[in-house]
Amino acid sequence: ISVEWDEVTAEKGGFDHFMLKEIHEQPKAYRDTMLGRIDEKTHKVVFPNLNMTPEYIRSIRQIHIVACGTAYHAGLVGGSVIEQLIRVPVSFEVASEYRYRNPIITPDTLVIVVSQSGETADTLAGLREAQANGAHVLAITNVVGSSIARDANDVIATLAGPEIAVASTKAYTSQIIAFNLLGLYMADIRGTMEASEIAHVIAAMQSLPEQVESLLAQSESIKAYAEHISKHEHLFFIGRGLDYAVAMEGSLKLKEISYIHSEAYAAGELKHGTLALIEEGIPVIALATQDALLEKTVSNIKEVKARGAEVMAITYEEHVADLMRSVDQVFAIPKTLPLLMPALSVVPLQLLAYYASLALGHDVDKPRNLAKSVTVE
Ligand code: AGP
Repeated sequence: ISVEWDEVTAEKGGFDHFMLKEIHEQPKAYRDTMLGRIDEKTHKVVFPNLNMTPEYIRSIRQIHIVACGTAYHAGLVGGSVIEQLIRVPVSFEVASEYRYRNPIITPDTLVIVVSQSGETADTLAGLREAQANGAHVLAITNVVGSSIARDANDVIATLAGPEIAVASTKAYTSQIIAFNLLGLYMADIRGTMEASEIAHVIAAMQSLPEQVESLLAQSESIKAYAEHISKHEHLFFIGRGLDYAVAMEGSLKLKEISYIHSEAYAAGELKHGTLALIEEGIPVIALATQDALLEKTVSNIKEVKARGAEVMAITYEEHVADLMRSVDQVFAIPKTLPLLMPALSVVPLQLLAYYASLALGHDVDKPRNLAKSVTVE
């Protein structure tokens, strides 16, 4: 018997592309990133290898999050969560801009750099700028032997496993998990959350892998929608709060591999100009997972519907019936805590980008003009 075999096909483990494989590896990546970091007896987060002392953690007065691309988008989600959990101001910094704006960095500034590869030149330069100004730099990275991991004062490794596809998927969601763990860890030390609240969030985090599995089982409906989207030249992603941060990631993913133009907009900001671009039949993907903002998001959905947009909403089961009244299509995701919603709501957007790229016949894993690791500034 002769068996056709090549290394790349074997590495794809039965999937047509690395990206699809990596999307499907997310439940495992979530579990691995949490593994050993949750104390099952105390229901608290533990980071035994961090150099930051409890005294230092209590002294932090501001946090800068520095990253590029998808890692920056994970920082938008993670930083917002940390700000809520520990009530310390967080600023979000695109790494290629950070050091040129002469940022105010002090010893009580915690700088968190986020990078899948750990080799992104701008992020590394941001790390050096922060250290030169006396800040403690914590890296969230997927490559423990990388330049960023070596140079940082502290490292939280995302345990997503190697990410081959240029479009980042499991690294992004693992970064979100790492940020949540870090937020809970610091909240405990700073006393901004009760032990019962921490345990409640941890329990919800532990359900995420299974919830992602159930989302992946619905891939076919996203595939059908992606085929429809692939016939359009422009589309919009809208959302408020964490939904807006996820909208940005969904838009980047779609642009990156399908080459379809899209914009992510804070839903409430549309009427300040961009609403002029909404015309008959334009697809709008509305993220509506944040309970406290839902009513406002629905009124923004009505604004675009009134101008002829074709709206697909992403929300959790409880709101499906309600939203069906205002939109053309709803994709339901399982329910979790609002601060954890991005770890679920991004999955259909990753699949959307994947299947749109596939429908258009593009090279999914190696999109034009892009490299996996950007080592030039
Ligand atoms: C993600 O899909 C992109 N390919 C890109 O934005 C990437 O996230 C960015 O270049 C940062 O890379 P890093 O995480 O390795 O630093």
